[in-house]
Amino acid sequence: MPESKKNQSRSDQGKPIVEFINVSKIYDKYRQEVVALEDISFKIDKGEFVSIVGRSGTGKSTIVKLMIAEEKATKGGVKVLDWDLNKIRDRRVPEFRRQLGVVFQDYKLLTRKTVYENVAYAMVVSGQSIAKIKRTVPQVLDLVGLKDKGRRFPKELSGGEQQRTAIARALVHRPELLVADEMTGELDVLYAWEIMEILLKINQMGTTVIIATHDRDIVNKINKRVITLEEGKIIRDQKKGDYLL
Ligand SMILES: Nc1ncnc2c1ncn2[C@@H]1O[C@H](COP(=O)(O)OP(=O)(O)OP(=O)(O)O)[C@@H](O)[C@H]1O
Ligand SMILES: [Mg+2]
Repeated sequence: MPESKKNQSRSDQGKPIVEFINVSKIYDKYRQEVVALEDISFKIDKGEFVSIVGRSGTGKSTIVKLMIAEEKATKGGVKVLDWDLNKIRDRRVPEFRRQLGVVFQDYKLLTRKTVYENVAYAMVVSGQSIAKIKRTVPQVLDLVGLKDKGRRFPKELSGGEQQRTAIARALVHRPELLVADEMTGELDVLYAWEIMEILLKINQMGTTVIIATHDRDIVNKINKRVITLEEGKIIRDQKKGDYLL
């Protein structure tokens, strides 16, 4: 590691990985304003595991979209990793995204590609070497428990296995931060818990994990920090929280 980088990471210690400063998000829908987030502030430190919870329409996905630079804040500041997302230029968004792992509910696997190819593809498009791809893909498949399923196509997988493929794909760039929106929503309880265990394992290995969910049972079971939203506002932020709604 170059000396300058080393010094930088030392002085970075204690600096949040995500920071929302008085953020509001107002969508324009058919010329009607929808206030999705109203003046919310929070910080997430390196290594945390945070669940963002709340009923439907309370702004969970909006927080995720702001965090991954898919939407811009109407007011306030959003900082993620070392990026100021209010000022990020469109052409630099792909570079920023490669530093994140993102998993959505509709995980959009490529149906004509195998599990291995789906995961490798993210590395191919960012110009990684074949040697690195061959080394990394089996490692991440192993991490999500799909070592033996690399040759299957998405339609030959269970819902939970498809989701794990999407997680593997999100991990190929070894992100410092993994953001997941409502991943366990459509899975049955057993699969949902399996996915959560993988996310906890990834977190234990050092990755910061942020999930938006309304799966109350799981959030209560893992006993990690919970940020609760109601009508676009944070009504609770508990270090070892419960989902009380
Ligand atoms: N692109 C958009 N245009 C207009 N309004 C939007 C848009 N996206 C979200 N909204 C509105 O913003 C509010 C917050 O939506 P958001 O998707 O963040 O909620 P959520 O907590 O993720 O809900 P769910 O649990 O149903 O996924 C809702 O009132 C929603 O209708
Ligand atoms: Mg949502």
